[in-house]
Amino acid sequence: MKGLVLAGGKGTRLRPLTHTMPKQLIPVANKPILDYVMDHMRQAHITSIGIVVSPGTGHYIKEALDNTCADLDITYILQEKPLGLAHAVQVSHEFLGDDPFLMFLGDNLIKHGIKECIELFNTSKSDAVIMLKEVEDARMFGVADIDETGNIKQLVEKPPDPPSNLAVVGVYVFSPMIHQAIAKIQPSQRGELEITDAIQKMMTMGYSVRSFQLNGWWLDTGKKSDLLEANRVILDELSTSKIEGTIDTKSTIKGNVYIEAGATIHRTDIQGPAIIGSKTVVEDTNIGPYTSVGNSCSIKHSEILNSVVLNDVLIHNISPMQDSIIGNNATIRQKTSTHESIEFMVGDNTEVDL
Ligand code: DAU
Repeated sequence: MKGLVLAGGKGTRLRPLTHTMPKQLIPVANKPILDYVMDHMRQAHITSIGIVVSPGTGHYIKEALDNTCADLDITYILQEKPLGLAHAVQVSHEFLGDDPFLMFLGDNLIKHGIKECIELFNTSKSDAVIMLKEVEDARMFGVADIDETGNIKQLVEKPPDPPSNLAVVGVYVFSPMIHQAIAKIQPSQRGELEITDAIQKMMTMGYSVRSFQLNGWWLDTGKKSDLLEANRVILDELSTSKIEGTIDTKSTIKGNVYIEAGATIHRTDIQGPAIIGSKTVVEDTNIGPYTSVGNSCSIKHSEILNSVVLNDVLIHNISPMQDSIIGNNATIRQKTSTHESIEFMVGDNTEVDL
């Protein structure tokens, strides 16, 4: 079985971060989302993987995966415009050939379930298996209506009035019949070739489509609040502390905390779960639970809670800062010597909540 990872698209809801990096590379607990996806592929023994990329960000994806996925046989597939998930499959047809394939949306995180999904595909001899998860509000997802045996009866994309609370998770297993169905669908109202429409078409063509319900967590990292939740869920899974950096005697560490090699912690309290990246220096600061700080940052006289800080960031005299995502190489500081108004140099579309 081949793998297909969709890492194109626009990522507009995560601006300004996605002005400079694809959303699939935003780190959660200091590891890019895409790396979690590639771990699932490895665990399912899928080694021949197509990665759909966009012209603007494909080179970032390739550079990142060259470092972490040298063990996998990766083919980059350029999708000139983000014309939908089914369009992404269409442009990948040459790579996929007539093989069955596992498709994984590159901005989705799940705890487990890939192997079981593939097993169900093989044993049920169906033409597609769609991963589903019960959610409170299904309106912003693909939504499935299933019968008592788990066969899918109907699939709709982002319906205002969902037929069930079963959302389509971004993991699918397809037989090559999906290509015939895609050839028969038209762009939706939002102008995209929708994979849900293609799957619905498979069913009307008489192919069997089964559902697999996920037990563990599923996180779609499309928005800031989703990313912070993903960070919390993954940090919650740290089961021990790992201290590879240096901590002075005036600092305290409580709960599960990773301090990466080369990080130094002075006169600082860290309440886990939390991660401090390599070569980061933290001084006179409180790091609260559910905080990930990237590599080579300088954090001084601040308090940071429930936040994701990327690499090469400087945060000085900011207290408290919470529920924040700070992009690479950002500087946030307040001059404490005076009580003048705060100075900012802020890029396009940045949100500042004080
Ligand atoms: O997250 C699950 C949801 O993903 C499903 O419930 C929906 O049925 C499915 O349509 C999809 O909806 P989204 O609106 O969240 O998809 P999004 O545009 O965020 O794209 C998902 C991934 O696919 C993301 O990594 C970007 C990539 N992509 C997207 C498009 C539209 C491409 O590579 N090419 C594209 O043309």
